[in-house]
Amino acid sequence: MARIDVQGYGTYNVENGKKLVLALEDNGIDILHRCGGKARCTTCRVEVLSGDLGPIGEKEANIIETKGLSENVRLSCQVCVSSDASIKPVLTATSEGLDAGPRPDEECE
Ligand code: FES
Repeated sequence: MARIDVQGYGTYNVENGKKLVLALEDNGIDILHRCGGKARCTTCRVEVLSGDLGPIGEKEANIIETKGLSENVRLSCQVCVSSDASIKPVLTATSEGLDAGPRPDEECE
């Protein structure tokens, strides 16, 4: 279990190996995931306030660079929770007035 503190929402116990975007959604946070977890849309991004969200894979690193996102941003659909962290969701269905998007696969790569 890891403790994930989500600024503005609360602190949640998350099973190790769970996809962060699903951990957020399953705890009632309406984070966007417009491409369904394919590392394309970046709407699932979170700001990392503290802690470690694990290594960045090639797909995630590429899209973060292409979109010019800041270094402390991670794509929650590409993160498998492995240790405690404090994060802040950037875009939500409520903040953007959009449907969240298709639910990403459960499987964490
Ligand atoms: S990049 Fe689209 S859901 Fe994560």
